[in-house]
Amino acid sequence: MKKILIFLLIILSQIPSTTLKLTVINYKNKIKSMENNISNTIDTNHVTYIKGILLVNKKYGLPKDYGNGIDATALYYLHQMQSDALSIGLYIPVLSAYRSYDTQKEIYNIYYQKDGLNADRYSARPGHSEHQTGLAFDVGRIDDNYINTPEGIWLNEMCSLYGFIIRYPKDKENITGYKYEPWHIRYVGDVSTYIMNNNLALEEYLEVE
Ligand code: DAL
Ligand code: ZN
Repeated sequence: MKKILIFLLIILSQIPSTTLKLTVINYKNKIKSMENNISNTIDTNHVTYIKGILLVNKKYGLPKDYGNGIDATALYYLHQMQSDALSIGLYIPVLSAYRSYDTQKEIYNIYYQKDGLNADRYSARPGHSEHQTGLAFDVGRIDDNYINTPEGIWLNEMCSLYGFIIRYPKDKENITGYKYEPWHIRYVGDVSTYIMNNNLALEEYLEVE
């Protein structure tokens, strides 16, 4: 036993102290990176609220069973907006509102069959669509040129007065993950005017990657 201890002491004394220190640092870094990986994990068992706003995008998902229809407040303001638009002759119909996880799955799969991974530029995967929140609506016309119509222009300028934002703004695909969608509005409440006036993507306002 004594011999073994002496042997170990000799071995240890041969290892430069810097090597030992580096080993400890590497070990600590390894643990740190494991912890970071865990906190970066996309957790679809939880919903993410930042600054009091529900965030759903490619990174932040929703549980499969989340949501059960259109949000009542969002619907109220949508109707106000539609009726004010109509009073000046602009018809802004709802084309798509709440979509369940399963509905989104069907939609995404149809696009994926057609377009492969390019579908990710315009269709959310199940569990990652804002439509599942009941706070998002596709209105007017699903058409890139909607922004050049009187209705699209009015929507873009006025939606924030009703608590809505154009969720996927022009030239922000690198931030939102989606191409410009002048028809997709998202109810966020009071902060809508700040977001729209400053031409921000929701991710920019929430200061998330
Ligand atoms: N078109 C949007 C990104 C969606 O599928 O939710
Ligand atoms: Zn949409």
